This record gives sequence, C-alpha cells and structure tokens, in this order.
Amino acid sequence: MKITCVETIPFAIPYLKPLRFASGEVVCAEHVLVRVHTDEGLVGTAEAPPRPFTYGETQASIIAIIDTILAPQIVGLSPLEREMAHAKMNRTVGNPAAKSAIDIALWDLIGQTVGTSVTELLGGFTDRMRVAHMVGFAPAREMVAEAIRIRDQYGIQPYQSDVEVCRALRANLGADIELYIDGNRGWTAAESVRALRAMDDLDLMFAEEPCPADDVLGRRWLVSQTSVPIFADESVARPSEVTRELLAGAATGISIKTARTGFTYSQRVLHLCEGLGVDVVMGNQIDGQIGSLCTTAFGAAFASTSRRPGELSNFLDMSDDLLTEPLIIADGEMLVRQGAGLGIVIDEDKLAHYRQDTGTRGVASPTHLPTKTRKQVTMTQTTEQDATAAETGANATKVFQEKAKTGHQVSQERVATLASQTLAAIHDVIRRNDVTYAEYDALKAWLIQVGADGEWPLFLDVFVEHVVEEVVNANRSGTKGTIEGPFYIPGAPEFQSEATLPMRADEAGTSLVFQGQVRNLAGAAVPGAKVELWHADDAGFYAQFAPAIPEWNLRGTVIAEADGKFKFRTIQPAPYQIPHDGSTGALIAAAGWHAWRPAHLHLKVGAPGYQLITTQLYFQDGSYLDSDIASAVKPELMITPTPSGEGDGNEVTYDFVLDPA
Ligand code: BEZ
Ligand code: FE
Repeated sequence: MKITCVETIPFAIPYLKPLRFASGEVVCAEHVLVRVHTDEGLVGTAEAPPRPFTYGETQASIIAIIDTILAPQIVGLSPLEREMAHAKMNRTVGNPAAKSAIDIALWDLIGQTVGTSVTELLGGFTDRMRVAHMVGFAPAREMVAEAIRIRDQYGIQPYQSDVEVCRALRANLGADIELYIDGNRGWTAAESVRALRAMDDLDLMFAEEPCPADDVLGRRWLVSQTSVPIFADESVARPSEVTRELLAGAATGISIKTARTGFTYSQRVLHLCEGLGVDVVMGNQIDGQIGSLCTTAFGAAFASTSRRPGELSNFLDMSDDLLTEPLIIADGEMLVRQGAGLGIVIDEDKLAHYRQDTGTRGVASPTHLPTKTRKQVTMTQTTEQDATAAETGANATKVFQEKAKTGHQVSQERVATLASQTLAAIHDVIRRNDVTYAEYDALKAWLIQVGADGEWPLFLDVFVEHVVEEVVNANRSGTKGTIEGPFYIPGAPEFQSEATLPMRADEAGTSLVFQGQVRNLAGAAVPGAKVELWHADDAGFYAQFAPAIPEWNLRGTVIAEADGKFKFRTIQPAPYQIPHDGSTGALIAAAGWHAWRPAHLHLKVGAPGYQLITTQLYFQDGSYLDSDIASAVKPELMITPTPSGEGDGNEVTYDFVLDPA
C-alpha cells in the first residue's frame, strides 16, 4: 500500500463562548482536517489545531507546510514506513501540529490495515480515560458555576488559576476532587512561588507551566521552593526538550499532547519519562472531538498515561463538530472508539458546511443550516395563486396518513433506545444554553401550532429526512438518493418509454427533454424499469398541493424500453420557497434563515429484482445549491441541460444505476 496524497481541509466551528488563557483567547476553532489517502482506498484521518500564540502555527501555515513541503516527501511511501516519513519530515524543524496530524493519520491507516484499534497497537492498557475539564478565565463566581455544572453534568472534577478562584473551587467542590492549575507562563517565578504558597492548603495535584521555562534559573528555583509538582507543557514540544527540562531540574512532570507530538513522538516522550521515573498527564491543545478521540486512544494505551484524568473536555465548548457519532463523557470517563484504526468517521454534510475552502463558510451561521437571508433573494415572481402553508400542510398530512396505514411496527427496544437518546440530546441543549421558562413556553406553543397547521410532514422532511436518507442509503453503490419530501403522490399516469408529462396548454417555463438509461452495477441495461418524475412548475408550485393546478400536472411514470432507455418531455422547474406562512416558516423567520429550495426534479427509479431509489436532480449553477433549506443537494445529482436538438428549449441525459434488491 502506498500513500497517494495528503488532503488538507480548513474548517471553522465557532465556540459557544470565548476561551481565555494567559497566552491568548480563541472564539472559533479554525483547524485543519488532514486525510492521508492510499492507493488501496484506505484513508487515515486526523485534526491539526493551530496554536499561533504558542507554537507559531496558523491554519494557513499548516496547510501550506503540508501541501508544499511535507506531503510531497511522504507520497509514495507505505504508511508502515513511519520512521522514514518522520526522517523526511524532520528535515524541516518546527510545525508540530502539521507533522503530528500526519503521524496520527498514518497510525489510523496502520490500524485499519491490520484490523486493530490504535489503542491496542500502542499498548492496549485500558479502553477508557478519566476526563479533566479546563475552566477558562472568568470572574470567580462564573468559574465556580461552570465547574459545578461540568461536575454535575459529566461527573468530572474541575480546576483553575488564581488563588481566590482555586480557594472558591476547593470550597465549593469538596476535598475529594483532583484540582490542578495551568498558568500558561502567566506568572513570574517569584509570583508562582508566592501563589503556590498561598494555595498550600488547597492540595493541588500539580501546577502546569506557571512561569516561562526560558527563565532557566527561576524555574529551577521554583521547583526547589514548592511541594506542588511543576509540570512542563509548551516548553516540552519535542523529546529533546523533555530531556533538557528534566535534566535542568525545571520540571517534575510532563504534559503529553498528541496534537503536538503525534503518536510516534508521544510514545518517545512517554518512554523517556518512564525511564527517568517522571510523572505524565495527557494534555489538550484546544482539540475538537477528533483530537480528543486521538488523545483518548493514546492515553488509554498505557498505564502511566491513563493514571491521571486527561484534558479531554474542550470540545464541550464548541458549537458543533465533524464526527458522525459525537464523543460522550459519562461518569467522568471517555471510552476509546472500538474497531480498526482510530474509528474517526466524518459527517460529510458538516464538513461541507464548515470547510472554508469552498463557497460556504461555517462561522456566520450558528447551526448546520443555510446562511443566506431572505433579503438576498431575487426570484421568479409568481402570478399563480399562492399555496398557503395551511392548505399544503393539510394535504401533506392527509397523503402521509394514507401511506402510514401500511406502516411498520417499531419494537419496544428500539423505541426505548431512540426515545431516550433523543430526550438526552434535548436535555443537553437545554443545559448548554441555560434555557429559560420563556423559551420553553415558546417551544411548547410552537410545537402545538405545528400540529394544528398539519405541518409535521413539512417540518420533518425539511429538517430531518436528509439524515434518515443518508443513514438508510449509506451502503448503496448505485445512483445517490436524496429526500422524497412531502409532495410525492403515488399513482401518477403511466407511459411507455416516452412521456410528455401532463401540463397546461399554456404551461410556462423552458421546455426540457429529460432522457437516460437505467442500468445495473455491472453496467447492463435493466429491462422493465419504471422511472417516475414529479416536479414544481415554473412558479415553484406542485399539483395537488397548490390551488388552481390540474391534478397530476407535471407528474408521470415512464416504463423504460428493454434497453433501459426512457424519455420525458416537460418544462424546467423553478426554485421555490417551501410553504412559509405557517409554523415552519415562523421558525425559519425567527432564526433568520431563508426558506428556498434550489430548482429540482424529483425521481423514483425501480425495477423487479432491484432496490427502488428515490432521488432529485439539480441544475448546475442554479440558485440556493449551497444553502438548500432541506439540506438535500449532493454533488452527484447535478445536471447541465444544453439547447435541444429538437427545437425550443433544453435537453439533458442522466443515467440511473440500480443496486440489487
Ligand atoms: C420537496 O423537495 O418537495 C420538499 C422537500 C422537503 C420539504 C418540502 C419540500
Ligand atoms: Fe420539491
């Protein structure tokens, strides 16, 4: 297996509140997702968090050094040639987060190759880590409140810096919690000695980097003056610096950060400390969930790194993250991800939203939702009688209730699992945001109104269906699916091989010939395939849902030829706003989002012996492709119509590939 390329993706996820340290403040996690690709299709993943004020790396510098210097040196190597990879990368000094992300991604690849978790590869000591929480600078009252909230919610025991706060924390949290302080070089050696003396009775576990290690004699003097262990952190970014600080007597313990020394050099730091009989702790480089997962994988692998709680809770302050399955802290512990490698599975929708190297930027919007506002919209004006949300909602509810008559049973076990996890997620949001009774009552009133408006099918299909579709269709290899939405009605008119969809004599819009072939995964034509097409009109409205449109307008099914070919004559639909004068629209307006869907064709394609696929096709370069309110656009589902050879209008060909049943 050979490394073929290293992908660097900048992304930005806002913090719920600014994090303040003696060395600076961060309001947004501007990190880099690093993916090492191989010729066998395996991909190793890691996250590089820059700490510009500490190590001098920025998001841009990490991308530049990997793209231009580090990646070209490791492409062509096997992931197993880690020593060679490091020898080459180490020709360039510095850049610890960039090199470490590559190292961690290589370990992930090795784990996947041999079918073993990285924790087991490294040592396999345990399957979990105890969690330490860092409380950022704030008035003492707020820090104590945060510490208590974290202890009660996650079962963790907290800490922080100045004497008054430490005293308040000890008083409020009790004698049995493990408290330590991280000065981030904020004090002088003399101040550190005074502060630690003033906290003599507080039973501190250790003090991390209270004053700069560059004050060489000052640090040595501090170590000699206090009974509190002094841990080195940013002064020991490499194994050689660990040796230097320990031999100088400037530290009695070492913080290991996988974001800084990867797994390979973290192991060397650990073994160096073990050889010298020096304590270690697993630290945090303001990691997100990917970094925290990696710290846990490493920390749990060895007895001495899993002895103390590791700094694994920073991600709780981020408004969102990239993993499909978020990390969970329970009873003060975090479990190692099971399975081969590191078990990092990226939510591609979220990555698309938060990555900064494409059109959409995550920072402007507080959630994984469209960022355009209605003010920016210029759109086809409709002369048709507008559909109201209430009418549309009532129709959608009726159609769904008809379908639900043939519904499936859900087992008690699944109901218990899904209901308890959904409720836990809601409880978490309430706690994280200190929800008030006024907000709770607004929610209740709104939920009641959604039901009264008959808008549950609309609301769920806009905001929830795309994730269900993603999960249900994850293992298909054929044509990509996407949401069905609430406007499908079974039983549309059928046609043999070619159809001119039912439409009004004066149907507005550009004519479109839409044709293609239905094939199987082996590329062979599928005989007897049915292709069903339904879409909005040129004003953005659907028959059977908006008033004054004839039944089955722009809806029909073609039974394809024996060679799988089909053809429709129709018109190009327009983008439209989902009905927004009801409760779904009220939410959209209250949150400052917009209600638009890009123009699209809805399709269902099936054949005997094959799985039915429900999907949509979107018009390349159309509006709202990157901010669809229903999050249903996928790059594989783009069409580019060209002027038709048959006269007016456009034509386009799109072939469908079906998965076997
Ligand atoms: C649609 O594309 O028809 C649709 C999808 C979700 C919500 C509303 C409409
Ligand atoms: Fe639609």
